[in-house]
Amino acid sequence: MNESTRTTLIDAAAEHGTPLYLYDLNRVADNYRRLFQLIQWPSLGIFYAMKANYNFHLLQALNREGAGIDAVSPAEIQMALKAGFPVESIIYTANNMTESEMREVHETGVLMNIDTLSTLEKYGRLFPGSNVCVRFNPDVKDGENEKIMTGGNLTKFGILLDDADKVGEIASRYGLKVRGLHEHTGSGLQMSESVFKSMENIMAVATPERFPDLEFLDFGGGFKVTVRPDEEPFDYESMGVRITEMFSRFCKGYGRDLALYFEPGKYLVSDAGYFVMEVNTVKNNRDRVICGTDSGFPQLIRPTLYNAYHHVENLTNPEGETMVCDICGNICETGDLFAEQREVSRIREGDLLLVRNAGAYCYSMGGIYNMRPMPAEVVLQDESVLPSRKRMSAGGLVEQILLETERV
Ligand code: LLP
Repeated sequence: MNESTRTTLIDAAAEHGTPLYLYDLNRVADNYRRLFQLIQWPSLGIFYAMKANYNFHLLQALNREGAGIDAVSPAEIQMALKAGFPVESIIYTANNMTESEMREVHETGVLMNIDTLSTLEKYGRLFPGSNVCVRFNPDVKDGENEKIMTGGNLTKFGILLDDADKVGEIASRYGLKVRGLHEHTGSGLQMSESVFKSMENIMAVATPERFPDLEFLDFGGGFKVTVRPDEEPFDYESMGVRITEMFSRFCKGYGRDLALYFEPGKYLVSDAGYFVMEVNTVKNNRDRVICGTDSGFPQLIRPTLYNAYHHVENLTNPEGETMVCDICGNICETGDLFAEQREVSRIREGDLLLVRNAGAYCYSMGGIYNMRPMPAEVVLQDESVLPSRKRMSAGGLVEQILLETERV
């Protein structure tokens, strides 16, 4: 890590306290622009999967870049609108939607992406003649771990490709205009072949006879990010070239050029996020060194939930000789670990630790288990660190809960 980033993080922790999330907004913008360079298509649309991180300033930064939004709940739509995204730049991909949710979203004017035949029927009955997008299951299995692979008939997502004709029938029965077809194979795709295979499967059902009103095909998110220092980066250059070639061939067959959409979360924000926590205890348990911090898994759950690797660095003793230890939190569970048997430069009580790749699915998956308020969030914009979201005090948290509690 370069000296200036290290100083920025240490200073931010001193000013805003730990645990602390910091998002580098320039990095988010760079990631967005890079993706545009990689996939050369005149009507390329990048719809940020805001479930990865709904921080308001980060959303505003992506809006300034011209991104769209992939939203999955009515609150995400409202938040995206508040951050300035135009209605037309939002696509709604909920799963197991209720009828009232459908009405609520339809009223906003946001395009709905529907992933079940019976939901499509309901939608057609309620809103005949509307625009709609349809999510197919690409029948390709890939992703960082089993819990986040979305393709294949064992998952709940999307309509099976075999049912493409049924989709066409329902659409024509209710006069629905199918403007887009969608798929999402999984998060953290391990192989670029999966991207191509999923694209092919969707393109094969996207015939002009079945779907004459198409404006776009949306191939979801899932672009893998590098998380380990010794990991080979993914070859995005050749992937981008191949995607363009495939899509261009498809458009010729379809009869006109469609827009090409993707919905990355991790790719845009993962490496722009830093999480800083302080070490309170260092315990020598026979042959095991256990370092305890002032955070816990409710504040960054990916290692506990998915066994996900997050690189940890000692910010305040970067040159120390290395040691192997467990890095855990302050929650009353043994599984409360950020890293197990990890090599890191010597940790002493009072040191600040950095957890990398904390921009995606970290704060957004957070909770207040053990009644510990979520950390504060700050953003780095050019050279300045600006406060973004406050840490609630313990008293504030209790007040909030009591406010929501019916009291007799
Ligand atoms: N589009 C759809 C329909 C999705 O379901 C997702 C992620 C994305 C796009 C964005 O995927 P990404 O580019 O971020 O991989 N909590 C997990 C990831 C869950 C992803 C859920 N859907 C994690 O921390 O790894």
